[in-house]
Amino acid sequence: MGIKIGSVQFEPLFGEVDRNLELAGSLIMKSDADLLVLPELFNTGYVFASKDEAIALSEQIPQGRTTQKLCDVAKETGTFIVGGLAEKSTDGIFNSAVLVSPDGYVGRYRKVHLFFEEKLWFDPGDEGFRVYDIGVCKVGIMICFDWFFPESMRALSLMGADVICHPANLVLPFCQDAMKTRCIENHVFAITANRTGTESREGKSLQFTGRSQIIGPDGRIICRAGEDSQEAGTAEIDVKSARDKKINIHNHLFDDRRPDYYGELVDC
Ligand code: ACM
Repeated sequence: MGIKIGSVQFEPLFGEVDRNLELAGSLIMKSDADLLVLPELFNTGYVFASKDEAIALSEQIPQGRTTQKLCDVAKETGTFIVGGLAEKSTDGIFNSAVLVSPDGYVGRYRKVHLFFEEKLWFDPGDEGFRVYDIGVCKVGIMICFDWFFPESMRALSLMGADVICHPANLVLPFCQDAMKTRCIENHVFAITANRTGTESREGKSLQFTGRSQIIGPDGRIICRAGEDSQEAGTAEIDVKSARDKKINIHNHLFDDRRPDYYGELVDC
């Protein structure tokens, strides 16, 4: 069950959707991975100045041009691709990610935990977390700040995810290291695809931290990009190693949980 997975890291330019799609597509074309993850909002950039802007740059899933472009690239390269985009739907405007396969659109995830001003532009995700069986592995999707809530990755892992696909636009310095713990405590692989660069718009400026990475179920950094590099970082993994949840001969990661004593976690 060896598969090649990876993250695509680059600097999207705000509002330059054609350019961003072309660049993402060309980086995917150069890679020979089975599963690749693109950053959060990779097609539009991140620093919106108004809700109107978010509405104008959002697209329907799967009819919109970004999902269609990813489907075309997936077909041409034989790759499964996860990438983040602003979604326009009758339910609202969402910070979403799509999963596409060489056979077409598979599914989407709407970001549950919105960060900072995203709360002004987007509606909170209303469909929960989902795991997709893509044959070579089971994929769970979460977006950027979802990492800050351990429940996100726990929920996906309990649903059977082997590989957490994590499109990101990280601005805080903690996530890359914190993901080692998330992977150890759930015994899964995680692909964090972050963007690079500084985005300055209308007096606001955010610097993104790069360092996209793949972490293994033992917390090991399998590969990590530079802070500013443009690259598709890939590695071969053995999916089976995410399916053994034994910690030692007496302990099992999931069977040893005591949900009866976790009331506050599940009582809203
Ligand atoms: C983030 O959720 N983009 C920090």
